[in-house]
Amino acid sequence: MNTKIVHLYLQSLLFVLSVVSFPCFCLQTDTLTSNITFRDSDTIISGRRVFKLGFFSPENTTNRYLGVFYNVSEETVVWVANRARPLSDSSGTVTFSRNGNLVLTNGRNETLWSTNVTGTSPRNTSAQIQDNGNLVLRDTSTGSIIWESFAYPSDVFLPTMRITDNIYTGHKVGLSAWTNGSDPEPGSFTSGLVALNIPQTFIWNNGRPHWRSGPWNGMILTGVPDMYSPYLASSSLWNDSEGTFYFTPHEIKFLKKLTLNSTGNLVQTMWNDQQRDWDITWFAVGNKCDIYGTCGPFGSCNVRDSPICSCIRGFEPVNREEWESGNWTSGCARRRQLQCSISNITSGNRDGFLRLPFTKVPDFAEQFQSRQPDVCRTRCLSNCSCLAYAHDSGIGCMSWSGPLVDFQRFDGVGIDLFIRLESSELDNHSDRLFVIIIPVVVGFAAISIFIFIAWCWNKRKGKRFGDIKVFEAEHVISLDSSAIVLKDEKEKVKVKELPLFTFKTLSNATDKFHENNLLGRGGFGLVYKGYLAKGKVIAVKRLSAASGQGNEEFMNEVVVISKLQHRNLVRLIGCCVEGEEKILIYEYMPNKSLDVCLFDPDHPSQKILDWKKRFNIIESIGRGLLYLHKDSRLKIIHRDLKPSNVLLDEDWNPKISDFGMARIFGGNEDFGNTSRVVGTYGYMAPEYSMEGRFSEKSDVYSFGVLMLEIISGKKNTHYYNHELSLSLLGWAWNCGTKKMEFSNDRPAVQTVLSMLSLEIMDLPRPEQPVFAEKWNRSHVETRTTQRSSQTGYPYSNDLTVTVLDGR
Ligand SMILES: *[C@@H]1O[C@H](CO)[C@@H](O)[C@H](O)[C@H]1NC(C)=O
Ligand SMILES: *[C@@H]1O[C@H](CO)[C@@H](O)[C@H](O)[C@H]1NC(C)=O
Ligand SMILES: *[C@@H]1O[C@H](CO)[C@@H](O)[C@H](O)[C@H]1NC(C)=O
Ligand SMILES: *[C@@H]1O[C@H](CO)[C@@H](O)[C@H](O)[C@H]1NC(C)=O
Ligand SMILES: *[C@@H]1O[C@H](CO)[C@@H](O)[C@H](O)[C@H]1NC(C)=O
Ligand SMILES: *[C@@H]1O[C@H](CO)[C@@H](O)[C@H](O)[C@H]1NC(C)=O
Ligand SMILES: *[C@@H]1O[C@H](CO)[C@@H](O)[C@H](O)[C@H]1NC(C)=O
Ligand SMILES: *[C@@H]1O[C@H](CO)[C@@H](O)[C@H](O)[C@H]1NC(C)=O
Ligand SMILES: *[C@@H]1O[C@H](CO)[C@@H](O)[C@H](O)[C@H]1NC(C)=O
Ligand SMILES: *[C@@H]1O[C@H](CO)[C@@H](O)[C@H](O)[C@H]1NC(C)=O
Ligand SMILES: *[C@@H]1O[C@H](CO)[C@@H](O)[C@H](O)[C@H]1NC(C)=O
Ligand SMILES: *[C@@H]1O[C@H](CO)[C@@H](O)[C@H](O)[C@H]1NC(C)=O
Repeated sequence: MNTKIVHLYLQSLLFVLSVVSFPCFCLQTDTLTSNITFRDSDTIISGRRVFKLGFFSPENTTNRYLGVFYNVSEETVVWVANRARPLSDSSGTVTFSRNGNLVLTNGRNETLWSTNVTGTSPRNTSAQIQDNGNLVLRDTSTGSIIWESFAYPSDVFLPTMRITDNIYTGHKVGLSAWTNGSDPEPGSFTSGLVALNIPQTFIWNNGRPHWRSGPWNGMILTGVPDMYSPYLASSSLWNDSEGTFYFTPHEIKFLKKLTLNSTGNLVQTMWNDQQRDWDITWFAVGNKCDIYGTCGPFGSCNVRDSPICSCIRGFEPVNREEWESGNWTSGCARRRQLQCSISNITSGNRDGFLRLPFTKVPDFAEQFQSRQPDVCRTRCLSNCSCLAYAHDSGIGCMSWSGPLVDFQRFDGVGIDLFIRLESSELDNHSDRLFVIIIPVVVGFAAISIFIFIAWCWNKRKGKRFGDIKVFEAEHVISLDSSAIVLKDEKEKVKVKELPLFTFKTLSNATDKFHENNLLGRGGFGLVYKGYLAKGKVIAVKRLSAASGQGNEEFMNEVVVISKLQHRNLVRLIGCCVEGEEKILIYEYMPNKSLDVCLFDPDHPSQKILDWKKRFNIIESIGRGLLYLHKDSRLKIIHRDLKPSNVLLDEDWNPKISDFGMARIFGGNEDFGNTSRVVGTYGYMAPEYSMEGRFSEKSDVYSFGVLMLEIISGKKNTHYYNHELSLSLLGWAWNCGTKKMEFSNDRPAVQTVLSMLSLEIMDLPRPEQPVFAEKWNRSHVETRTTQRSSQTGYPYSNDLTVTVLDGR
C-alpha cells in the first residue's frame, strides 16, 4: 500500500481511538436490542462513527423527531421516522414490539411511528445504524434484514441508496421534501425515477413535473450539463427481472449527499471539514430554463438568450400577445403544415430535418435501438407521426410524435435534435441568427474549398508548386454530439501533395458506395471498402455531404496525415474533392478497428488476440504516438485517441487513424489552450476536458485508458463495478496498478515505452485518480506546488473532506 495512505490511515485511526476514549453520552454501540430502552437523550452511532440515530428538533420549533443525522453535523438530518407526527416533548421512547417491529411511542404510550412490518408471530429483532446512513432491522435468529430506512427515504439521497421505479406496478421509491425548514412533514415536492421508455429522473410539484433530468444514456443523465464531465458521472442504473429499475449514486470516500430542499431544488453537497459546513457542488434547478416546460410546446429555452424562450424555427407563437408579454405557457405552433400530412406521395416527400445541436431533448421520447444515426432519420422520415428524432450512442434512436415540451439548448454539451420541417422552412433562412452565421460559415468553407480545389486542379494538370502549399482555415462550428465544441483558433497549415482521385473512380471502386462495402463510420462520414482497377484494396471515407459538417476536420486531416510516414500511422493514399463530395482514401485494414476486436464478444479475435499480440498492439500504438509527439518534424497532438481510431492490418499491427482533431505545434510550443474541447468522453484527460489545456500528456492519458482497455477487454465508459467504483479507471486504481491522474504525474510516451520494455523497472507509486470530486483549478495548483516541495501527502491541502476509510 502507498506509504502516504498508510500514514493517513494511521492518523485517522489515532483520531478515532482518541474519540473512543472520550466520555460520551451516547450508547457505545451501533445496535439497538430489545433489552435496551432508547430514550430522547440517547443516540447510537455507526461503526465508523459517520451517522447517528437519535432525537432532534428542527430549527425554530420545540417538536421532537426521531431521525438519522451525521455525526459531523447534527443539524444535518438525512432521515426522519415520525415525519408527520412530531413529539411535543422529550418523552419519546423506542422499543421493540412483540412481533419485532421498532416502535416509537410518546409519554401517553401512543404509537407515533412503527416499522410496521406485517407478521404477528413473536420475533426477536435488532436495529443497527450503518455507516452509509441506513437503519436496518434484522431478525436476530436468521440475521436477515426485514426492514431498512433506505427503502423509505426522506429528503436526502445518500450514496448506495436506491431510488426505484417498477415499470409494471408503477411503485416508486423516491424523495419527498420537507414542508419547510422547521417541519419535516412531506411537502409539495417529490423526486424520483421514471423508468418507462428511456429512464429519467424528475422533481414533481404536487405531482406535476417541475424539473427533468433528460434521458439516461447508460453513463449520464443527458439533460444535466455538469454530468458531461467524466468526473461527476458517478451513478448507475440497472433493473431486476421483476421490472424494477434502480438508480443509485456510487459510494465515495467523502461525505456527499443530494437533498431535495423544501423549495424544490435538488442540491448536492459535500462536507468541508475545515469550514465545518457543507459545500454546494451542484444543484438541479439553476435557472428558469431548468423549470419544466417553461417555453411551452415547441418552444426552445436558452438561458443565454433574452428573452430565454423562442419558437423553434418553422414555428410561431400560438398567442403572440401573451408570448410577447413573457407568458410562454401556450407555446408555439407549426407555421406550414408538413407535406407528409397533406399527401402520401413518397417520391415527392418534401419534408426535411433541421439540426439543433447541443440540446436537452424534449420529454416523451420513444426509443428504438440502433447504432446508426442514419437509420433514425430514415425511420422518422417514413412515419408521418414522427416530428423529430435524435441519436445518442448510449440510447440509440429517439423519436417524438407528440408536442415537443421541455426543450432546452445548451452550450457545447448535449444531444443533437433533428426537427421535421416542411422543406420551404428549411430553405428560407428566416431565422436571423442563420442569416448572419450561414454566409460566414459558407464563406469560409467556400474559400477553403476553392483553394483546395485550385490546388488539386493544379496538381491534376501536372503543375507543381514546389512541394508545399499554404492554407489558412478558419474553424467551422460542427462535430458530433459526443464531443464538446466551441469556436476559436485560426491556424496556418502546410500541405504536401497528395494523389487526387476522381469521384467516378471511387464510385466504381465501391460499387456506387454500396451498403455491402460499408466498413463503418468514421468521425464525419461513412467508410467503404473499395477495389481499384489493379486489384488494390482501399478504404474510402466519404464525408457526409448533407450534414455540411467537417470541412475543417477534412482539411485538417489531409494536412496532418499527408506529412506523416510511420508504420503505426494509417497511410493516406489520396483525396477527392468534387462538388459537395469530400473523400479521403486510406490503405485498407482487413482487421478493422480495435474496438470491434476488443469489445465485441462474438468477434473471433477474442481468441486470436493473445497476450503477446495485445502487448505488441500497446507497444506499437506507443511508437506511433512517440512519432507524433517527438520524432516527426512537427509536434502533433492527436486529441482523440481511442480504440475505434486504431486500425489493425492483416498481421494485427495497429495503425493510428482519424487525425480530424489533431493539432500541430511549432517546434518550441509545449501545450495549447482551447475553448473548443473536442474528443471522446472517457478518453479525455481531466485538465483537457475541464480546462481545455492540452499537451502530449493528454494523449498519454488517452493512451493509458486505451492500454487498460486492451489489457482488460472492457470499455472504460461502459465498465461498471457496483461494489467498487465507477469506471475501468476506478477498478484499475483499486487493483493498484496504473497512474493517470495529474498531467505532471503522467509519464511521457517514451517513458511508457521504456517501462513496457522493462528498461525502467522501478515504477513510481500511482496516485489515486479523482472520480467524483468536482475538478477545479485549485486542484492543479495545489498539486503542482505540493510536488515541487515534495512534502507530505499530496492531497493534504485538499483533505478538507472527511475520509471515511483508509482502504
Ligand atoms: C442485550 O442482549 C444482548 C443479546 O441479545 C446481549 O449481548 C447484551 O449484552 C445485552 N445488553 C444488556 C445491556 O443487557
Ligand atoms: C462523532 O461525534 C462525537 C460527538 O458528537 C465527536 O466527539 C466525534 O469527534 C465524532 N467523530 C467523528 C469521527 O467525527
Ligand atoms: C403500552 O401499550 C402496550 C400495548 O399497546 C402495552 O403492552 C404496554 O404495556 C404499554 N406500556 C406502558 C408503559 O403503559
Ligand atoms: C401499517 O401498515 C398498514 C397497512 O399496511 C396501515 O394501514 C397502517 O396505518 C400502518 N401503521 C403505521 C403506524 O404506519
Ligand atoms: C427471543 O429472545 C428471548 C430471550 O433472549 C427468548 O427467550 C425467546 O425465545 C426469543 N424469541 C424468539 C421468537 O426467538
Ligand atoms: C412550516 O410549515 C408549518 C405547517 O405547514 C407552519 O405551521 C409553519 O409556520 C411553517 N414555518 C415556517 C418557518 O414557514
Ligand atoms: C428560524 O427563525 C429565524 C428568525 O425568524 C429565521 O431567520 C430563520 O430563517 C428560521 N429558520 C427556518 C429554518 O425557518
Ligand atoms: C431487465 O434486465 C434484464 C437483464 O438483466 C433484461 O433481460 C430485461 O429485459 C430487463 N427488463 C426490462 C423490463 O427492461
Ligand atoms: C434550495 O436550494 C436552492 C439552490 O441551492 C436555494 O437557492 C434555495 O434557497 C434552497 N431552498 C431552501 C429552502 O433552502
Ligand atoms: C399564461 O397564459 C395561460 C394560458 O393562456 C393562462 O392560463 C395563464 O394564467 C397565464 N399566466 C400568467 C402568469 O399570466
Ligand atoms: C395514404 O396512403 C394510405 C395507404 O397507402 C391510405 O390508406 C391513406 O388514405 C392515404 N392518405 C392520404 C391522406 O392520402
Ligand atoms: C408511426 O409512429 C407512431 C408513433 O410513434 C406509431 O404509433 C406508429 O405505429 C408508427 N407507424 C408506423 C407505420 O411505423
